[in-house]
Amino acid sequence: MRATTTAALFAGVLASSASAENYLGFNSGATLADRSAKFKKDFAAEFTTAQGLENAPGTFNAVRLYTNIQAYSQDDPIQAFEAAIDTKTKLLLGIWTSGTDNIDKELSALKKALDKYGKKFSDLVIGMSIGSEDLYRDSETGVINKAGIGAGPDVLIKFIGQFKKAFTGTALAKVPIGHVDTWDAWTNGTNKAVIDAVDWVGVDEYPYYETGKGNGIKNSGKLFDRAFDAVSGSVGGKPIWVTETGWPATGSKWDEAVPSIENAQYYWQEIGCRKLFNKVPTFWYNLRDSNPDNEMKFAITNNLSTKPLFDLTCPTKFDTPSGAATSGAASSTGAASTGVSSPGSSPTGSTGGSSDSTGSTTDSGNGDGTSTGVTDAATPSPSGNSAYVGKSLSVAAVASLALVAGVFALF
Ligand SMILES: *[C@@H]1O[C@H](CO)[C@@H](O)[C@H](O)[C@H]1NC(C)=O
Ligand SMILES: *[C@@H]1O[C@H](CO)[C@@H](O)[C@H](O)[C@H]1NC(C)=O
Repeated sequence: MRATTTAALFAGVLASSASAENYLGFNSGATLADRSAKFKKDFAAEFTTAQGLENAPGTFNAVRLYTNIQAYSQDDPIQAFEAAIDTKTKLLLGIWTSGTDNIDKELSALKKALDKYGKKFSDLVIGMSIGSEDLYRDSETGVINKAGIGAGPDVLIKFIGQFKKAFTGTALAKVPIGHVDTWDAWTNGTNKAVIDAVDWVGVDEYPYYETGKGNGIKNSGKLFDRAFDAVSGSVGGKPIWVTETGWPATGSKWDEAVPSIENAQYYWQEIGCRKLFNKVPTFWYNLRDSNPDNEMKFAITNNLSTKPLFDLTCPTKFDTPSGAATSGAASSTGAASTGVSSPGSSPTGSTGGSSDSTGSTTDSGNGDGTSTGVTDAATPSPSGNSAYVGKSLSVAAVASLALVAGVFALF
């Protein structure tokens, strides 16, 4: 009896310290693969398919957006909001922050949405990400990869402050604020002030793009865990949301990584089922592709069919040994940071329209993760290849100790 009570308490403590809910969703850019704007019906079709996926290990009823602005408009609210209201889809909002000195249009679009839809809208908002992979684009790896214009920690912190100020006293005042970046941006000490400024940390991880680290599919679980553990050891207990991850079903090889439907399924099982679904808030990359410049295709369905390219059923046994991440982490140190980029980093949808509505390519990133520009596309991976620092071993060890200590401190 006593043991049962303790176990229940323990579970409760873990659950409450781990952030409210382990959301399941996909990423959604502002544009389609032909760079045309997505409208309400396009978003609604995505959200409906996501919720109806056959054999899904839960209900995918959340979505991560990259911008509040309808593609090619000045500051009209993105029509994803109405589609979300109609389909009861939870919204992880995003504000595009690279290549701009202000976020006025993003704030204006969001205010308009709040005025127009009120509580029906605000009740669906589960978080706000100020920026997407801006630190990565400004990092050494991002520069090597010609990932485009980024933004530094000071700029992100300024925008976080502006968002808070703009929505104080509104229904969005309590929305948990985060920032999304590649995993190695979070382990870079120069960016620590961003960690301090957010409520949760959004991580994009793509073992597929980890050049020079043995990125074959069978090693993907280990690479994922290593990066995830390094982040959790660096963020001082802030909740981690996995905001992009996936493996392409088609496209060309990337170092040892081979795109195929079979490998995409293996990745779904080994990373999604084993490590993320119903355990960590997760936004898979992706339900459908929208970056025409990325030859790697990450969509898990054809034309939004609810019958995916592979069976989504989760197995009960996995290949990746637990604790595998730590061993060997040190050896990969430094290994090249070649390629981190990510596929989906841009805000505006896939088009990359920027926040300023032009839709132009470069800046804003694409909404869906696919980034717009050539660049990202070329170097797609989001999270990470970059620098894997070698300190994961100690970091991971420290992190688990800290977690255990924290849990017991509550008793
Ligand atoms: C670490 O972050 C800073 C600031 O974002 C960046 O300028 C620097 O290039 C990063 N370091 C590496 C090794 O990428
Ligand atoms: C998806 O739709 C496009 C456009 O209607 C069509 O050309 C294509 O054949 C479809 N693909 C599949 C796999 O059904």
